[in-house]
Amino acid sequence: MLRPPGDKSITHRALMLASLASGPCELSHVLTGADARSTARALRLLGASVGPLRPGRAVRVRGARWTAPARTLQCGNSGTTARLLLGLLAGHPFETRLTGDASLRRRPMRRVAEPLRAMGAEIREVHGDGLPLAIRGGRLRPISYESPLASAQVKSAVLLAGLVAGVEVTVREPACSRDHTERLLGHLGFDVRVRGATVTFRPPPASSAVPPFRLDIPADMSSATFLVVVAALAEGGELVLENVGVNPTRTGALDVLARMGVHIERRDARTVSGEPVADLVVRPGDLTGTEVTAAEVPRLIDEVPPLAVLASRARGETRFRAVGELRVKESDRLTLLARNLRAVGAEAAVDGDDLVVAGGAPPPVGRVETGRDHRIAMAFAVLGTAPGARVSLSETASPAVSYPAFFEDLHRIAADG
Ligand code: S3P
Repeated sequence: MLRPPGDKSITHRALMLASLASGPCELSHVLTGADARSTARALRLLGASVGPLRPGRAVRVRGARWTAPARTLQCGNSGTTARLLLGLLAGHPFETRLTGDASLRRRPMRRVAEPLRAMGAEIREVHGDGLPLAIRGGRLRPISYESPLASAQVKSAVLLAGLVAGVEVTVREPACSRDHTERLLGHLGFDVRVRGATVTFRPPPASSAVPPFRLDIPADMSSATFLVVVAALAEGGELVLENVGVNPTRTGALDVLARMGVHIERRDARTVSGEPVADLVVRPGDLTGTEVTAAEVPRLIDEVPPLAVLASRARGETRFRAVGELRVKESDRLTLLARNLRAVGAEAAVDGDDLVVAGGAPPPVGRVETGRDHRIAMAFAVLGTAPGARVSLSETASPAVSYPAFFEDLHRIAADG
C-alpha cells in the first residue's frame, strides 16, 4: 500500500492562488519536489509568505498584494511555474523577469505570451521564443481565445490573467486539457462555466482577493503511472495505490493500460477538494500492444514514457499517434524514448509525429541517457524492474523534480512484489 506524491499540477495552482488569498491558507499533501519548490520560491519573491515544503507536513501560505520582485524569478525545470506565473503577472503593474534551467530555457513560451499580449500585457523576449523573458502587466482587456493547442498551461495562464485583472475570459481548445485550474476556481466559489472544450470565467472586479482556503491535494496520477507499470511488469502480486487523483482529464493512461491487459480496479471513488480521487488496485495480465489515438493524447501526454517502456514488453506493436508535443517537454522525449528503447535492445522508431514500439523484446539490458528528464529516468528505472532486466541510467537526480521518494518507493514495491 503506497500513496504517491501530491499532484504536481494541483500543487502549483494551489500555491499560486493561496499566495493571492486574503487570509491564511493550508495545503496538505502538496508535492515537495523541485518543481513545486520553484513555484514556492517565486511566490516568496513576489511577497507571499509560503512555509517550507516538507514531506508529510501541511504548507501554510499567507497571501499578499504582490510587489515587484528584487531578483529574476528562477523557475528551474518547471514549465508550469513559468507559464502560469506569466498569466498571473500579466495582471500586475510592474516588471518581472523570469528564467529557468537549460531545459526550460529551450521550451516555447510564445504559446502563452501571445494571448497575454492580446489582453494587453507587455512581454519582452531576450533570445526568441523561450526564457528569459520580461513581463510588465497591468490593466487587461477581456479575451475570447481560440487556442491552437490543447494545453492546460496556455488555458490556465489566460484564466489566471483574467482573475488578477478582473476581466472575463473565454478559452476554446481543440480538445479538453487537464481542468485543475477551472475546478479549483469553481471550488473557491468563482463563476467558471465549462461546455465541452470551452471554458468561460467571469471573475469579480480586480481588487477583490481570493478567499482563504484549505485544500487536500490528491496523489499525482502521472507519478502513480510509473508504479502501475512496475506492478504490470511483475510476474504476479497486487499493488494498492491510495488517494490517487482520477480526474477524467488525466486518466487516459488507465484506459490504455486496461486495453493492454493490465488489471486496474478503482476502489472507494470519492471527491476531495473538488477533485475525483480513488484507490487503485493493480494486478499484472497478459500484455498486448495497442494504438493510442490522437484524441487520447491530451489525457495522457505525461504518461507516454512509462506506457512506451511497457509497450516494449507487450505482444505486438504499440503506436502512439500525434505525440509531436513530446519534443518540447523537459527533453525531446519523442527522440529519447525511441533511442533509449533501442539502447536496451527493443525496437522503437519515430514515424512523423508518431512513436512506434515493437513488442516482444528480450529482457532489457543496456545504458540509458535520461537527458536529465525526470519522466525518462523514472520510465527506464521502471523498465529495469522487469524480470531479467539490467538497465543503468546516466543520472538518478532528475526524479526529484516530481517524485522525491521515487527510488525508495520503487525498491519497496519491487521488494514486496
Ligand atoms: C501541465 C500541463 C501539461 C503537462 C505538464 C503540466 C499543467 O503541459 O504536460 O506536465 O500543470 O498545466 P501542456 O499545458 O503544455 O500540455
